[in-house]
Amino acid sequence: MNPSTKQLKWFNSEHAHSALAALDEKSLPQHIAIIMDGNGRWAKRQGKPRLFGHKAGVASVREMIASCVELDIPYLTIYSFSSENWSRPEDEVSGIMKLFVEVLTREIVNLNAQNVRVKLIGDIDALPEKTRLAFAECVQSTAANTGLTLVVALNYGARQDIVSAVKAITSEVHEGDLSSDDVTSELISSRLSTSGIPDPDFMIRTSGETRLSNFLLYETAYTELYFTDTLWPDFNRDALLDALLSFQDRNRRYGGL
Ligand code: FPP
Repeated sequence: MNPSTKQLKWFNSEHAHSALAALDEKSLPQHIAIIMDGNGRWAKRQGKPRLFGHKAGVASVREMIASCVELDIPYLTIYSFSSENWSRPEDEVSGIMKLFVEVLTREIVNLNAQNVRVKLIGDIDALPEKTRLAFAECVQSTAANTGLTLVVALNYGARQDIVSAVKAITSEVHEGDLSSDDVTSELISSRLSTSGIPDPDFMIRTSGETRLSNFLLYETAYTELYFTDTLWPDFNRDALLDALLSFQDRNRRYGGL
C-alpha cells in the first residue's frame, strides 16, 4: 500500500516502512481478535512480579488500538480477562481489576480523541463494582464514536456464551416465539454476546501457546489463526505488521475450491 504521511509517522521503523509498502490495503483483516498472553513470563524474566507484566501489556494494547486506527481496521477484540482467570492468586486478580480502573480512567480521553467506540462482552456483573463502573463509563462515553470498535472481553468464556444463547433460544421456543425450524447458525450468532459484530477474520495469540482457550469458539469457524512466540508486552507495531503480512499471504477459501 501507499502509506499516508500520518501512517509513516506512526509506523516509524525501517522494518515498518518496508512492511507497509508490501501490505495491500484491500487484504487487511476487518476484525482482529487477540489473545494477549505472556505478561507473567515477561515479568518473571526480569525478576519482577506478574502485575509488572500486565502493566507493560497495557502499552501493547494502546499500540494495537492506535495501529488499527491508523490502518482503518474497523474491529479489534482483546481477551482481557477470561472466566478462568479468577483462579489466579487473589493479589494478581485484584491487581488486574485495579489496573483496569486506572487505565480506563486515564485512557477515555485518548479513546475519544481516536474516535474509538468501546464495547464489552462477557459476564460484567461478576466484576468488582469499581471496575464495572469504570468500564460502564468508558462504554457510555465512547458510544457515539464511529471509528474503530474495540471489543473488550471481560470475564468472558465462549462456552458460557454459547450456553446463554442456547438458553435464550430454548426459552423463546418454549414461549412459542420461535419454532425449532427457525434455529439457524445466524440465529445462534444473533443470541451471542458478539451479536452485531462481524466474525473475526484474523486471530493472533502471543507467547507460543497454540490454543483458543475458550475465546470466541463459535465466531472463529473460518478465522485465520496466527501464533507467535513473542510475549504480549513485546508485541509492537512491527510485530503486528508481520502478522498482517502473513494474513494477506493466505489463501482464504471458506471450505470451497
Ligand atoms: C495474559 O498473560 C494476560 C492477562 C490475563 C491480562 C491481560 C490484561 C492486560 C494486558 C490489560 C488490558 C487492559 C485493558 C484496559 C483492557 P498471562 O498472565 O497469562 O501471562 P503468562 O502466560 O506468561 O503467565
